[in-house]
Amino acid sequence: MANVTSRLNPAIWPATARTDSKSGELSLGGISATELMERFGTPVFILDETDFRARAVKFRSAVEKIFGPTAKVYYASKAFTSIATAKWLAEDGVNLDVCTGGELAVALAAKFPTNRIELHGNNKSIAEIEEAIEVGVRFIVADSLIELDRINSIAGSLGKKQSVLLRLTPGISAHTHESIATAHEDVKFGFSIASGAAMLAAVTALNAEHINLEGVHCHIGSQIFDETGHILAVERLVKFIADVKKNQGATLHHLDFGGGFGIAYVDSDDPMDIESVLTRIHAALTEQCAKYEIEIPSIAIEPGRAIAGPAMVTLYQVGTVKDVLLEDGKTRTYISVDGGMSDNIRPALYGAEYSALVANRSSNAPTTDSRVVGKHCESGDIVIRQIALPSDIVPGDILAIPATGAYGRSMASNYNHILRPPVVVVRDGSARIIIRREKISDLLALEEG
Ligand code: LLP
Repeated sequence: MANVTSRLNPAIWPATARTDSKSGELSLGGISATELMERFGTPVFILDETDFRARAVKFRSAVEKIFGPTAKVYYASKAFTSIATAKWLAEDGVNLDVCTGGELAVALAAKFPTNRIELHGNNKSIAEIEEAIEVGVRFIVADSLIELDRINSIAGSLGKKQSVLLRLTPGISAHTHESIATAHEDVKFGFSIASGAAMLAAVTALNAEHINLEGVHCHIGSQIFDETGHILAVERLVKFIADVKKNQGATLHHLDFGGGFGIAYVDSDDPMDIESVLTRIHAALTEQCAKYEIEIPSIAIEPGRAIAGPAMVTLYQVGTVKDVLLEDGKTRTYISVDGGMSDNIRPALYGAEYSALVANRSSNAPTTDSRVVGKHCESGDIVIRQIALPSDIVPGDILAIPATGAYGRSMASNYNHILRPPVVVVRDGSARIIIRREKISDLLALEEG
């Protein structure tokens, strides 16, 4: 495109997002929004390959630089997974975290090296554990005593010894924009350190014939903007490792402190630079290990959102526009798009905020108080609760919503028998479908009788 400029906030938009200085049109990976809509329809998730891979590699380089060459990134598949992205990660030296047989199936279909996969989850089925051990995953993260028993007996019956991490509850609840409550124990995940459950689990695992207990794991929350929680968690996990050494004489040499690194959805979000965050966590880790006189464990992290989130943009087509008179006498413009809570449940579920851009043209019209809504049959079907958008938006315009790559397509549903949107990868002026749009026949194929 001839006249491209970038007046888009790079914290929110993918690396290759541009707007044309004359027409105002958005392009992604060198392809205009109009062309993308014409070729693939709407709603559609556009995934910027360059951006996704750069973010994944940035995490990998950062952990290797800061924690040393043994440090690993396990991308959290739950944010978004597909055979294509799993192949990129495999090529780019990033490992994979899966939490169900379905996510594992995608990894296996991508021929992802199984010794670079980790399986976690608080209620893995026997079949899931069996498959994970059979294919040879690097770690299973155990979440309960019952699960330790299952892993041990399944590994035994398969004639294997399985490497295991213990999911620990370090007593920290980290929430975005909220304070950190340091006594958060009332959760379904993991073994509590404070109550002694974690030590009992360690003893159990160390005595299990078919388990090789290699280390500890935690995940303190998601969309976190402050490293305090991660630091506290790492300190508590290190102390636990030291206690296991003291009480059991066993060395746990691996520490995985999960994901949770926040991203920007709107201009006011200010996520921290990942290298600085990891540097501060590293300082706390080394200090704590020195304090307890233990060797520094090998480190793993599990970012999902911070890799997939900003790499995708949803394109919707505007279907209807209407002004609604509010009680205070003001007017709100309701802009209905052709998707909604079925492709992005996050606003309804978490009150998540997003930004939007008219993607097919520029507009000099004054802005008006607007609400972007979907086409589902409930009033909570809101994409953006409040946003100033040009007052000349009309049916047929394309609205682009950035930062929808994480927990968008992966949490999509068929509510109202809506067909889930495709995912289209763009790169260097070319586009290809990696997940196709659902068809009515896909829905009907589930019907029996
Ligand atoms: N590791 C474990 C064990 C996790 O449970 C999660 C996310 C991650 C890693 C990745 O966290 P991330 O880096 O993406 O924050 N549906 C919610 C997010 C749920 C996250 C659950 N666990 C949302 O849309 O905000």
